[in-house]
Amino acid sequence: QKDGYRFFMEKEIYEQSRVMSETMMGRVLDEAIAFDELDENFFEGISSIKICACGTSYHSALASAYLFERIAKVRCDVEIASEFRYKEPLLTKDTLFITISQSGETADTLEALKMAKRAGLKSLSICNVDNSSIVRESDTAILTRAGIEKGVASTKAFATQTMVLWMLALYAGQEKSTISKETLKNEITAMLQTPKALIVTDTLHTKLNRLSKRYLHGHGFFFIGRDIFYPLALEGALKLKEISYRHAEGYPAGEMKHGPIALADSELFTIALMPKTMHYDKIKSNVEELSARDATICAISPIPFDLADDFIQTTYDAHPMLEFFEMMVVTQLLALEISVRLGNDVDMPRNLAKSVTVE
Ligand code: M6R
Repeated sequence: QKDGYRFFMEKEIYEQSRVMSETMMGRVLDEAIAFDELDENFFEGISSIKICACGTSYHSALASAYLFERIAKVRCDVEIASEFRYKEPLLTKDTLFITISQSGETADTLEALKMAKRAGLKSLSICNVDNSSIVRESDTAILTRAGIEKGVASTKAFATQTMVLWMLALYAGQEKSTISKETLKNEITAMLQTPKALIVTDTLHTKLNRLSKRYLHGHGFFFIGRDIFYPLALEGALKLKEISYRHAEGYPAGEMKHGPIALADSELFTIALMPKTMHYDKIKSNVEELSARDATICAISPIPFDLADDFIQTTYDAHPMLEFFEMMVVTQLLALEISVRLGNDVDMPRNLAKSVTVE
């Protein structure tokens, strides 16, 4: 069943290109985004969006908040479901409540959804498992079509969730006329290139395999990024800590100087997400500050970066989401290769279950 791959997680990383095409099928048209699941004028009367999720699903939600606000001009807040449940949130009926879950069975996310429903909010779930509890509980559901995900460390589910959310932000922008036809067309053109951006080449995998041996020790990892690359940094750090058991944190690059930079020395490994299309000069200067404190820098970017101890050159440099997906694959494979070198069972990491159905 692993089809020659060492782990299900590895197989699922390689599957991302294909499943992404499935996620888009029938939804990404030449000049429009279509969702059969959504009623006409789905966003009518909606003035804000609240998203609740856990773990990796929470990270895709965080990335989407930038997209909903930028593209659809609708306010979007994201909350960790286990926090939302007990904070006595103020909810208003003009808020669309979105839950995101691979399994559709995560207890905290399900309970958050029930609370929102009791408050009379319109609910939408983005799920990978049809007929799951969260799908059944929601007014409307959009399936991510990632196929069965076996690796405890989520990969293709994250990719497809993020894709659905990008499509949904465009769909909302289309319905609310917050984006021009030309912008929509350009976004669709980029979207259709995503499966290609997710192809794992032998060159990349070999490079990450070789590089991983230099990242086995040290006192921790910082993944840093800005904008949508900050949630990607959080996700990269989560992936690494789940399967390598190394301490890893994701941080907004601009926050490093507000405390965490105190940790910088050569044993602090910084994985810097440096896209060309999103605040490149800002993140470059954040990384330079870390380098000046002797942090070991692994830069992921389409633009060569002299100060990097290790440099992984990406190929997409014209659209942030294509850069996002390409860098996502790099962080997933890096986590995989480090963990394999450490002798860990990547598919069955200690202390973790695939689906968290208890509080
Ligand atoms: O099934 P869900 O998406 O609701 O699961 C949420 C988290 O438990 C899950 O994403 C977890 O963080 C993964 N192990 C991450 O790789």
